Amino acid sequence: MTRHVTDIDDLSTDDLADVLARAEDLKERVARGKPHPELGGASLAMIFEKPSTRTRISFETGMTQLGGHALFLGPNDIQLGHGEPIKDTARVLSRYVDGVMARMFDHGDVTELAEYATVPVVNGLTDDAHPCQTLADLLTIRERFGGFDASVAWVGDGNNVCQSFVKGAAMAGLDLTVATPAGYEPDDATLDRAAELGGAPAVTNDPEAAVADADVVYTDVWVSMGQEDERAEKLAAFDGFQVTTDLLGDRTLMHCLPAHRGEEVTDAVLESDNAAVWDQAENRLHAQKGLLTFLM
Ligand code: CP
Ligand code: NVA
Repeated sequence: MTRHVTDIDDLSTDDLADVLARAEDLKERVARGKPHPELGGASLAMIFEKPSTRTRISFETGMTQLGGHALFLGPNDIQLGHGEPIKDTARVLSRYVDGVMARMFDHGDVTELAEYATVPVVNGLTDDAHPCQTLADLLTIRERFGGFDASVAWVGDGNNVCQSFVKGAAMAGLDLTVATPAGYEPDDATLDRAAELGGAPAVTNDPEAAVADADVVYTDVWVSMGQEDERAEKLAAFDGFQVTTDLLGDRTLMHCLPAHRGEEVTDAVLESDNAAVWDQAENRLHAQKGLLTFLM
């Protein structure tokens, strides 16, 4: 049966453990310079409605390292967005390629791709979810803490990256507190699903309270891609949620990147030795290779 990952909880807890184990093994093989062409001859179509540095480059180089090939399909490269329906795109791509990765605005567009594709579809970020980021985040936490016996405080917007992390944290057994301004919490469906998966996070509007017992502080941009019109309103709402040297203390900083220095995080914090963000970015590569070998 074709498996899709439109969000992290399309994987079972056992699947998640399998993907992370594959990621660690592949990372070690990269470090030892051992070739690993496990997807030799395979092609991955990569649909991008939004810009990307990490997702695009990690998937493309990941496929190359696995002996396969990736096709970058931006908004002006294919008929999708120019009149061809998602379901037709899904069926046609499935006749050519072995997997599809899609970064789209509307989460429903990625689930529709998955509904009609006969090859695995992976969500590379929607307005609601970012499961590939969660895989890399869990890998990074496990490397740093030797497991998931760690406490994480999310400080910032409760949208896509946060929502997938909330579910992934529940699956992994991380202790999580989410601090957002009022009105920017993760949605109810995410919190209900996290409860089913192992435990909903504590949710607060107080960043200082959230970080009090935390080992890790995780933040994300205040103005996500596609929200440019809400910029003034969001900057005002997030006043007081910046991760500063004072708020971080000696805790580990996580950020999915790109970072907007001077908004959600200060330059000093990002440049400090507490920042795990470069490991997180690298781990996108290894985590997604683990996922691709699991799915394809
Ligand atoms: N974190 C992340 O997905 O980065 P990009 O937008 O650069 O892909
Ligand atoms: N929340 C951010 C994440 C970018 C990887 C956005 O959606 O733009």
